[in-house]
Amino acid sequence: MQISNLTRISDSFLIILVAMTMVSCDQRTGADQAGVEGGEVEFHSRDTKDNYTYAQPHEAVVTHLDLDIKVNFINKKISGRASYKINNIAGVNKIFFDTKQLDIESVTIGEEERMTDFALVGYKEYMGRKLEITILPTTELVHIHYSTRPEAIALQWLNPQQTVEKNHPYLYTQSEPTYARSWIPTQDSPGIRFTYSAKVEVPGELMAVMSASNPQNKNESGVYKFEMKQPIPAYLLAMAVGDFTFKSIGPRSGVYAEASVADAAAEEFGELEEMMDAVEELYGPYRWERYDLIVLPPSFPFGGMENPRITFATPTIIAGDRSLVSVVAHELAHSWSGNLVTSATWNDFWINEGFTVYLERRIMEELYGVSYTGMLRLIGYQDLEATIELMGPTSPDTHLKLELNGRDPDEALADIAYEKGALFLQVIEEAVGRDKWDSYLKGYFDKFAFQSMSTERFLANMREDLIKGDTALEEKINIDGWVYGPGLPDNSPAIRSERFEVVDDEVARWVAGGDAAGLRADEWSTHEWLHFLRHLPEETSIERMQDLDKTFDLSNSSNSEIIAAWFVHVINNNYTVAYDRLEEFLVRVGRRKFLAPLYKTLAKTEANKKVGLNIYKIARLNYHQISAVTIDGILGWEDERYLMHD
Ligand code: BES
Ligand code: ZN
Repeated sequence: MQISNLTRISDSFLIILVAMTMVSCDQRTGADQAGVEGGEVEFHSRDTKDNYTYAQPHEAVVTHLDLDIKVNFINKKISGRASYKINNIAGVNKIFFDTKQLDIESVTIGEEERMTDFALVGYKEYMGRKLEITILPTTELVHIHYSTRPEAIALQWLNPQQTVEKNHPYLYTQSEPTYARSWIPTQDSPGIRFTYSAKVEVPGELMAVMSASNPQNKNESGVYKFEMKQPIPAYLLAMAVGDFTFKSIGPRSGVYAEASVADAAAEEFGELEEMMDAVEELYGPYRWERYDLIVLPPSFPFGGMENPRITFATPTIIAGDRSLVSVVAHELAHSWSGNLVTSATWNDFWINEGFTVYLERRIMEELYGVSYTGMLRLIGYQDLEATIELMGPTSPDTHLKLELNGRDPDEALADIAYEKGALFLQVIEEAVGRDKWDSYLKGYFDKFAFQSMSTERFLANMREDLIKGDTALEEKINIDGWVYGPGLPDNSPAIRSERFEVVDDEVARWVAGGDAAGLRADEWSTHEWLHFLRHLPEETSIERMQDLDKTFDLSNSSNSEIIAAWFVHVINNNYTVAYDRLEEFLVRVGRRKFLAPLYKTLAKTEANKKVGLNIYKIARLNYHQISAVTIDGILGWEDERYLMHD
């Protein structure tokens, strides 16, 4: 079975990654490995070949972007100019950019904007087209005049009905992993960093924010200026345009949201400054000045996206009791792991996500304690076990170091990078001791700030600065088993949660025939509820479903995680009383992590699949393409739009 089939039906986080050509195993051991063996050899971003970009950064690379664009909601088009400062390292007469679904009007070079030749070359389904521009060995400035297409994969254009307030349209971008090229022509590789400035013109009644310095008030002219002084890779370019307001949380933090969501959001994220203090204490200074969040309309396909200075977040983490804020801890942690020290290629994705999940749990532990965080760890661990079982215990896709080998953008990866990555770092922590590990990590973020990090570069540095030739320690950690081996190695730690053991007793009581009123659930947090719901038997009678629902009002839960876990049982047991609620949820919410398991469960029987397809007909119009592509796969839906090429 192909990984795409496996992961499309996975309950786990689905991450779309784009591949172009075959990456041979040897490439992993190419320049990187030479560095490892040489010991002294410096690693540079250009040492690690990224097969997901047309750019040739060792020849000619961008260093700064100056963007001047207009956002037009009538024809769903962004148009304007992307001007790049470039470094023509090899004195070449061609520079290459990535584009996808873009129309290029003209290209000019130098201050004087002299016309130059360009060509859009080739087309790879998951890569887009190569923009080849003629330059001179002395060229320092390249200006690309372009416009986007309405179907640009990075862009979601929402009509007023699809927002909370329903008065104005909305636009947001999602650039990770390789979608930036569909709204800005760029060198779209995690190993290529540049600073940027931007001038964005939007309709007068709307506000615009970017992954840069941001306005806090609307400006009648509709013209906004931005600056990002720290170099970032293209996947962190982001913009949102809509009728939102800003609410301050602390001296360097706040939240943007549509008016009626703003207060609840500011309340939910009230501990942001404490979180920032906790990470700084552990891993060194926050280097991006402000940390704001924007709560997007509910169609946002992810829980959160770590756009620098402004995390993009789903409204489904606003539970009213701060119980889902680990997503915020996660995105904040990316300000160190990911945004500061960045995966060199998408094969090193765990360098972003594994480190970030590890950091997320450390932040949660600082704020909420060990027993609370133990629940988060165990939920993550159980997801990991399920994913490994689904992929198969020997699948190479369960390695931390991936070989994506030219797979398509609908090729999804499960939470191996996240949970196995975090567990590996926990193993190292336990082997060397927390103090030593913490000070190593603090040094790591400092030493490699604003650089890219391949798996091999990290391992070489860890061997040099932490393991220091201690063979017993090296053996105890079992690096190769974790990084280049499948499944969970022998030295994988047992993960336990005492609070969940208490819940297990209640599950047993229920399974033995006890009624809902007898469950000792009064003190349960969201996580205990999730553990309970995830461990209920698949088959439950309608009477017992009713008993649970009447007692705890689960079908009306305002907690997105709880209701999504409940809906799985609703579908499995044809508890049709709650189907209206299910439909309402599936039409409103576009977060793929919730959608995929629900549609997958619906697809299990013919009758429910019909229900699913009927809901999807309407709901699909509200989904971001990233989610739609996944659900199309689950339901076998064919949409002509996706059969169209560039
Ligand atoms: N960077 C990811 C989101 C992402 C990954 C988008 C790969 C596109 C490709 C983000 O930090 C993330 O992991 N979000 C999670 C939440 C997190 C708490 C695990 C999500 O959206 O589910
Ligand atoms: Zn993440």
